[in-house]
Amino acid sequence: MRIAMIGTGYVGLVSGACFADFGHSVVCVDKDKDKIERLLRGEIPIFEPGLDRLVAENVEAGRLSFTTDLAEGMKGVEAVFIAVGTPSRRGDGHADLSYVYAATEEVAALIDGYTVVVTKSTVPVGTGAEVEAIIQKVRPDLKPGEGFSVASNPEFLREGAAIDDFKRPDRVVCGVEDDRAREVLSELYRPLYLNETPIVFTRRVTSELIKYAANAFLATKITFINEMADLCEKVGADVQAVARGIGLDKRIGSKFLHAGPGYGGSCFPKDTLALVRTAQQHGAPVKIVESVVEVNAARKQSMAARVKAAAGGDLSGKTVAVLGLAFKPNTDDMRDSPSLDIVPALVRDGATVRAHDPEAMGEARKHFGDTITYCDGAYEAMQGADVLVIITEWDEFRALDLGRARELLSAPVIVDLRNIYPPAEMAEKGWAYTSIGR
Ligand code: UDX
Repeated sequence: MRIAMIGTGYVGLVSGACFADFGHSVVCVDKDKDKIERLLRGEIPIFEPGLDRLVAENVEAGRLSFTTDLAEGMKGVEAVFIAVGTPSRRGDGHADLSYVYAATEEVAALIDGYTVVVTKSTVPVGTGAEVEAIIQKVRPDLKPGEGFSVASNPEFLREGAAIDDFKRPDRVVCGVEDDRAREVLSELYRPLYLNETPIVFTRRVTSELIKYAANAFLATKITFINEMADLCEKVGADVQAVARGIGLDKRIGSKFLHAGPGYGGSCFPKDTLALVRTAQQHGAPVKIVESVVEVNAARKQSMAARVKAAAGGDLSGKTVAVLGLAFKPNTDDMRDSPSLDIVPALVRDGATVRAHDPEAMGEARKHFGDTITYCDGAYEAMQGADVLVIITEWDEFRALDLGRARELLSAPVIVDLRNIYPPAEMAEKGWAYTSIGR
């Protein structure tokens, strides 16, 4: 099958490369000339394990190509995926759909033969209908279901595990309004039938809601265990044992019950907020999700106080070593990362911050400028620091040489916001060790 993927951001690039790897012929289209030139040279603009090889192999095999020319990209395609950005609009938290609508107009003008236009970006409930209306306006000669169809096919990729998530998903969700679109999407995902991946076909609006419901539910699960962690600290219970104790109940499930500094990233914060707004607009407020948004924001803001407390209640003149700035390991993404709340708060409290992240140093500079010191490695960050804080659980922070750390730090103080180390063992070794909910 021949398809076009509009937008070479995270979702577009990963999906495009994976569809090509399935054997389809994929043209990735982006307006950003510089980005396309870099991709043509084999440079991958984002950090995602395995993506560089996947892109290179499929370009080499002639199944994957890049262009800035949409007309070129759309030649002979059976489906066009819209995977452009949908940032939160400043002020009201609504998803900004201007890129989606602009892409739709351009696509509409170029439709030549039956084409399924698929929204892959996370778009608010009802966007599919809007996209269909735009196409009809631009092309009154085309009828939905005959000249074109608009489908919804949300993605559930996790950064850092995106390729595996794409190729071995728990399920694929496709929202369609007619059989023709259903056939095209079935064909596109045929390679997944081999490993018996459930393909859930629904109406378009339902598919749009599934994406938001899934992310809001996961964000709720995390927020729930984070609140349990706070309660554990008060009553002397262990949140990890609580998570295991409830998670073994199959109705609850053990995943996404890891307490930490609050969720971040490009999806949960944006999608929970968008769902809250949509629900309010339709007069069916989602109060639980509203609370989740509020509780999580407050949680991220409250983490710096733990560092202050561990440092004896005053950070002025103290040096804090920070390990991990990305919102989670295996990504350079810092969008809504807890570090964006924690680091500036430490600086405001008078601390000198020495930070290291294996991939996000470039991103970090854009946020923190020269307010902190950027270190080449974990141990360099620890040099002369009074407190060590672990914000992101990168593998390389999971087995630190604590003897060496002890020599480098001025005091044996660790604030571990990801519960990497066993508290009893740390206490035995003489560390003043603070973690989450234990
Ligand atoms: C998420 C969804 O998992 C994915 O399906 C969707 O397509 C996009 O959003 P992602 O944002 O890449 O993916 O990361 P994820 O691994 O889900 O983590 C999100 C945030 O939750 C991170 O800040 C992470 O640290 C936090 N988290 C996750 C926890 O604090 N505890 C957990 O148990 C799990």
